[in-house]
Amino acid sequence: MRIGVLTGGGDCPGLNAVIRAIVRKAERQYGDTVLGFADGWLGVLEGEYTELSVERMRGTLPRGGTVLGTSRMSPRMHEDGIERVRATMEATGADALIVIGGEGTLSAGVGVFEAGAANVVGVPKTIDNDIGLTERTFGFDTAVGIATAAIDRLHTTAESHDRVMVVEVMGRNVGHIATWAGIAGGATLTLIPEEPFDIESVAEAIVRRHQRGRWASIVVVAEGARPKAGTLEMPEPEIDQYGHVRLGGIGQAVATEIEARTGYDTRVTVLGHIQRGGTPSALDRVLCSWYGIAAIDAVHDGDWGSMVAFRSGEMVRVRLADAVAELKPVNPALYDVAKAFFP
Ligand code: F6P
Repeated sequence: MRIGVLTGGGDCPGLNAVIRAIVRKAERQYGDTVLGFADGWLGVLEGEYTELSVERMRGTLPRGGTVLGTSRMSPRMHEDGIERVRATMEATGADALIVIGGEGTLSAGVGVFEAGAANVVGVPKTIDNDIGLTERTFGFDTAVGIATAAIDRLHTTAESHDRVMVVEVMGRNVGHIATWAGIAGGATLTLIPEEPFDIESVAEAIVRRHQRGRWASIVVVAEGARPKAGTLEMPEPEIDQYGHVRLGGIGQAVATEIEARTGYDTRVTVLGHIQRGGTPSALDRVLCSWYGIAAIDAVHDGDWGSMVAFRSGEMVRVRLADAVAELKPVNPALYDVAKAFFP
């Protein structure tokens, strides 16, 4: 078979590990040719690709980023987007397309598949861990590890100066990274989008802790965390060239309010793209290898419109359309674990 692969949306540790696994089994066991489309859906729309091989992918397992490049371009952004995808599939002789991406990229895959423009199999990528019907997206474990290491470092400087440290982490409209890193890093408070916060209660909790003799506090804030309606003015978010809302800034707003309401010296750290760059964790390398092998097997089973998913320790297949129907929120029981440590 001839199989196209693309990586779309924000990059993520482990993308190369997935591609490497696909190429390995495709070439060595199935005798396929793998076409790597450049820059996500953009390469499919423009028919730009290179042939991938085991040799080409050598040494890429621990490398962050993606050898294919990525973008937030989608066939939906062009009037004739679906027809262009169909034309590229025909022109390249590709029998299938493995779409490695987050919610935006995979949703575009559903559109392409449902229009009959390509035989699609999805792989759930994102540090945000917000894709439904899979317990883990790849990249999440690495991001949590990076955020936790940062929180560990902030503890010591917070303690030296008796400061409140606010740490803003990524995660878009869900609080998986914040919740996991908050628990792992021993945060004083963790604010997530799933539970809008009251800034006055946040300040009171920190004062309570300080009155018990603990001065330094770490407040983890998910970039998508929201104040309860009418409790804190937030600036309008910026929109990027792809219509993607640029989150961020909530950490600074929370820090300013904490300092104003408590009088405690407060600093803010925005972890930003550090959470996405660099080498994948060992767990992500294993998960990515498994995802890649499962994806090429799904292609050979002709399981079009499926997404490979990790559930209860097994690699299974779910319907791609169902997986992207709704974002997966943080399990309230896990957030209760974080809350058990709030002052
Ligand atoms: O979806 C992954 C992610 O890193 C989000 O956590 C974050 O909001 C967004 O991408 C940032 O996107 P960009 O790299 O386009 O600024």
